Formats: sequence, structure tokens, C-alpha cells
Amino acid sequence: MGLETALLAADRGAHVVVADKDVAAAQAVAAEVQKIGGKEAAIAVAIDIRNRESILQALRETVSTYGGLDIIVNTAAVFSFVTGWPNHRYPVGADFRYQCDGQSSSR
Ligand SMILES: NC(=O)c1ccc[n+]([C@@H]2O[C@H](COP(=O)([O-])OP(=O)(O)OC[C@H]3O[C@@H](n4cnc5c(N)ncnc54)[C@H](O)[C@@H]3O)[C@@H](O)[C@H]2O)c1
Repeated sequence: MGLETALLAADRGAHVVVADKDVAAAQAVAAEVQKIGGKEAAIAVAIDIRNRESILQALRETVSTYGGLDIIVNTAAVFSFVTGWPNHRYPVGADFRYQCDGQSSSR
């Protein structure tokens, strides 16, 4: 979801900050965005959306690189099916808590 969103944004001329706790994955997505918008079109930063200091650090890097922030798209989350929890239809137990932590700390 994040990759497709980033590519659509780049198609429309946006600068994109790809933020993920998996920095290698974020760098790979940023490289895809740069193929569309050029070297200046994207950076990758580390973030853990459950941690406010980490969010603030990502915001600082964003503002120092691009001078501001217009839109945030949060697709960082866990997918029960992917993470292998037994109930594949709805997040349950630890998976559900992880989702809630992410959603509340990223507000
Ligand atoms: N893929 C779909 O078809 C689909 C459909 C409907 C809803 N969703 C929902 O959209 C969300 C994203 O789905 P996806 O398929 O893109 O999942 P994905 O696993 O491909 O991507 C999620 C990304 O979030 C990152 N992430 C997880 N926890 C994080 C954290 N604490 N801080 C920072 N980054 C973190 C992961 O590293 C990963 O790169 C999920 O909540 C999913 O339930 C997905």
C-alpha cells in the first residue's frame, strides 16, 4: 500500500519521504520513486510509529530536507494474514494491540 501510494504521489510531482521501521525496504521504495521524479524526489527515513520520539525525528528529517510537510499517508501496520496469527479475518490479541499502538501514537 505504501509503495503504490508513494509511486502515485511521485507521478503527480510530489516529493516523497518513505518512512518505515524496515529501513532497507524504505530505501528500495525511495529508489523506485526517484526513477519517476529524479534524485531529489525521495528520501528514506527510519520510523517506528509506536514511538513518539521516532516520529519527531522523522518529521525533523522531512522538514530539514524539504522545508515542510503537506500530507501524511499512514500505511504502516500489520496484516494478520501476513504475520500468521490464527484468525485471518480480523486482527486479534497481540496483533490488534500492535495496530492500536501504532494508530494512537501516530496521531
Ligand atoms: N494490502 C491490502 O490489500 C490491504 C487492503 C486493505 C487494508 N490493508 C491494510 O493496510 C495496511 C498496510 O498493508 P500492506 O499490505 O501495505 O502491508 P505491508 O506489510 O506490505 O506494509 C506495512 C509496512 O508497515 C511497516 N511497519 C509495520 N509496523 C511499523 C511500525 N511500528 N513503524 C513503522 N513502520 C511499520 C512494515 O515494515 C511494512 O513495510 C495494513 O493495516 C493492512 O491491514 C491492506
